[in-house]
Amino acid sequence: MTTELIKISGLMQNFDDFVRAGELLREGKVVAIPTETVYGLAANAFDPNAIEKIFKAKGRPSDNPLIVHISDFSDLSKLVSEIPESAITLAENFWPGALTMIMKKSDKVPDEVTAGLSTVAIRFPSHKYARAIIDAAGVPLAAPSANLSGKPSPTSADHVFRDMKGRIPMIIDGGDCEIGLESTVIDLTGDIPTLLRPGGVTLKQLRSVLGEVAVNPKILEEVSDDEKVASPGMKYKHYAPSAPVTIIDGSSESFANYVKNNINGRKVAILCFEEEKELFADADITVVSYGKLLDGVSLAHSLFGALRQFDEISPDIIFAREPETTDGIELAVVNRLSRAAGFSRISV
Ligand code: TXA
Ligand code: MG
Repeated sequence: MTTELIKISGLMQNFDDFVRAGELLREGKVVAIPTETVYGLAANAFDPNAIEKIFKAKGRPSDNPLIVHISDFSDLSKLVSEIPESAITLAENFWPGALTMIMKKSDKVPDEVTAGLSTVAIRFPSHKYARAIIDAAGVPLAAPSANLSGKPSPTSADHVFRDMKGRIPMIIDGGDCEIGLESTVIDLTGDIPTLLRPGGVTLKQLRSVLGEVAVNPKILEEVSDDEKVASPGMKYKHYAPSAPVTIIDGSSESFANYVKNNINGRKVAILCFEEEKELFADADITVVSYGKLLDGVSLAHSLFGALRQFDEISPDIIFAREPETTDGIELAVVNRLSRAAGFSRISV
């Protein structure tokens, strides 16, 4: 299959391309689309055959459900069997945006989308091209992140092209994703709203409008093989470069000393803060920085692109630095990096 990569300059300039993307989606094809979080691999949420093509293109385990994307709040009533009060509050404050809400599904949502669960994940993205494509398709779009399963989520059309070339007919290139990591996932089906995946909308923001929000402990812990999880995505290794990643906790100086004393003849690369780069000026180590220590927004924006760079460097091992865990965007950065590292962490 040839994969067409379409660079968008504007809604009007590329009007025909949006119409074509909509046609492909209505025909049951898969189209990669930009969103404000990461790129998505979209298909008609009501078409089980189209949904199967997403799982195939990604190599995704069929027990990991997809998020359904809408372009108007009114689309929600078709997809869920009841709308909790908390969903209305969250929608008023954070939709359109980087928030995914889990609710009880309606009969119209095929089991292929929800991996057989009785609940469905819904997001109303803010990205104007994502919304234009949903409008052009005329149906809600199920879309996971547009990476091969296990790889870091794509934050540019180039990332998508590398993973999906030959696997899907069309990629819509809307430039770099503003946030750079995935949406926040909150479960609204229990008594207390529960955070299942930290993301673009922070825990602090959620608590500021809902009051009590529980945090699923598996956000920052490894899940054992036989454990039951609230969100199937928690079970899988994610966001990982090919080389093993180990997170190093401690001061910048002890980090630099540890790395320099543990090269052991290996090709070593590090993922660090901007401020730490100079500590390695004299060492035979590949240095990738992903933002400033105290600027969580920049770290979130650049993390996945930085993780992808390591697959071109092909080191034997990657030592990585993470920010302090807070109720801000840093929680999402630590969650993604912990998974990329398979929870391997050393304190120095
Ligand atoms: O920002 C995003 O959320 C991006 C863009 C494309 O919208 N999408 C995304 O999708 O990250 P994906 O499939 O890579 O991650 C969806 C996560 C998975 O961890 C999945 O297990 C969880 O949401 N999920 C989906 N439906 C669920 C449900 N009914 N109950 C619990 N977890 C669910
Ligand atoms: Mg994903």
